[in-house]
Order: sequence, then C-alpha cells, then structure tokens
Amino acid sequence: MDSKYQCVKLNDGHFMPVLGFGTYAPAEVPKSKALEATKLAIEAGFRHIDSAHLYNNEEQVGLAIRSKIADGSVKREDIFYTSKLWSNSHRPELVRPALERSLKNLQLDYVDLYLIHFPVSVKAMEKCKDAGLAKSIGVSNFNHRLLEMILNKPGLKYKPVCNQVECHPYFNQRKLLDFCKSKDIVLVAYSALGSHREEKWVDPNSPVLLEDPVLCALAKKHKRTPALIALRYQLQRGVVVLAKSYNEQRIRQNMQVFEFQLTPEDMKTIDGLNRNVRYLTLDIFAGPPNYPFSDEY
Ligand code: A2P
Repeated sequence: MDSKYQCVKLNDGHFMPVLGFGTYAPAEVPKSKALEATKLAIEAGFRHIDSAHLYNNEEQVGLAIRSKIADGSVKREDIFYTSKLWSNSHRPELVRPALERSLKNLQLDYVDLYLIHFPVSVKAMEKCKDAGLAKSIGVSNFNHRLLEMILNKPGLKYKPVCNQVECHPYFNQRKLLDFCKSKDIVLVAYSALGSHREEKWVDPNSPVLLEDPVLCALAKKHKRTPALIALRYQLQRGVVVLAKSYNEQRIRQNMQVFEFQLTPEDMKTIDGLNRNVRYLTLDIFAGPPNYPFSDEY
C-alpha cells in the first residue's frame, strides 16, 4: 500500500489511516468551506476525515465524501470517517438516535468510528457497533483515570479503539500516550498544529507553536515547514494525527508528511519542547467529576 495511505490496526481489527483531515472551523466560517475543503483533502490524498455532530458540518462533509465516491475518485471503504456523540445525547436511549441523525446528515450508512466527544458512559455506544452503524467506537478528551474507569467496567464488551486528545510539541501527552499504548488504544492528536489562533477559547497570550524557533530550525534543516515537522513528529511516535486546513495549498502541503523522516535526535529535540501548554481547556465544563483536564494525565 502507498505510504500516504499508511494505517494503524485498531484493537478491534479495523484499520485507521495515520493522517487525518480535521474539519472543525469556527462558527463564522461559511459551512460551504467544509464541503470545498473536504473535497480538496480527498483529492490531495487524505482518506481519514474527522468531524462531529458539534461541528455542525456533517451535511457538507458527507456531501463531499459522496461526491468523491460518485465521481469515481474513491470508494466508501477507502474512506475512514469519524463522528462524535455530543454531550446532549449521553442518556443511553439517545445515543443511537444521535448517531442516526449524524448518518442522515451525512447520507452515509455507517461511520467508521464513533467517539464519545466528552467523558460519559459507553454501553449504548457498544450497541451502535453491534448494529453496524459504527464500525469502531472510541473516546475523546479522556484522561487516564477515565480510561481506566471504562476499561475496568464490569461487562465491558468493546474497549475504545482510540482516545482523541489535544497533542502537539508543547503538550506532548507522553504519559497518556504510554498508557494508551500499554492498553492497545491509539492516541489521535487534535490541535496538532497548535490550534486555531482566531478562536476565542484560545488564550491570545499562549505561545504560537508554529513560530517555535526549534520547529523553525528543524523545518529549515529538512526543507519543510514547522507544520510538517509537528505532524511528522506524531507519526514517528505512533500517534495518529489530524491536520485541519481549509486552504488548498496547506491541505496539499500537509500530505508531504510522508515524504521525509526526522532523526532520533530531532525527535528528542522536539520532545524537549513539551511545556504543559494546553490550548483547549474547555473550562466551561470544569467542576463536574468527569472534567478530564485536572489530573496530571
Ligand atoms: P488554515 O485552515 O487557514 O490552513 P489545529 O489542527 O492545531 O487546530 O490547527 C489548525 C490551524 O492550522 C488552522 O487554522 C489551519 O489554518 C492551520 N494550518 C493547517 N495546515 C497548516 C500548515 N501546513 N501550515 C501553517 N498552518 C496550517
């Protein structure tokens, strides 16, 4: 298989492409951009597409996928599509209807992966997998304590296949990554490029990842860009990485992640950048016992 379609095998036997296309954009960005960018991403070679009910763009992303299937560029089984259950549908009887609503918006028969977007229970998710509506189920924004809670649940039928969390050189999640690896759970990185600076929930005083002098120097050394260094870093440490861009040139650029390699010394240098900068704190959820970001990892 072409290296750009490189996949990781999940603990339930399904395969996930190691580079994903992130589709989230702030509310002010017209939804039509999601359609356009997702088509461009598929044309550029992305086969893993990440969205969520919360992003309010599944209609457009689904249309993009279906149009690339209709024009013969890809088959449904070539695409790995992730959706996520939002917190207003956590009651068990609301889970399947929520997934069915996403599928209806997408006009697809199944999703490849359905994630619990923010920590809650798992039973009703397992039923979605059994019903064939989701090939795999996983979680997002779980810390190791919440993961342990799920893994130790009596009668657990399916382990989550992945945990999608913020992960980049300033917040490299080393401990959570080691924990996930020890449980055969793939860590999927979001905000891998340091998140959307224009978002109100990102502290404007936080350091700008892609301007980091060390990443810039490595970019120069490899004749790439700081973004590519940040993406490549994740692949080489066994993390599946999401790259969001709505810009054609940068969508294409991000596929170059398969065209070069960092040395073990480069990797160590990037490890040294870790500085506990979490861009997405989701403070509005702080307080309830399941708020995931108070623990060390
Ligand atoms: P744009 O959509 O204009 O390309 P994250 O995934 O960490 O949330 O970061 C996404 C942000 O990084 C987006 O705002 C995106 O902007 C930008 N981005 C994506 N790819 C690149 C790249 N190769 N170089 C610089 N910025 C990028």
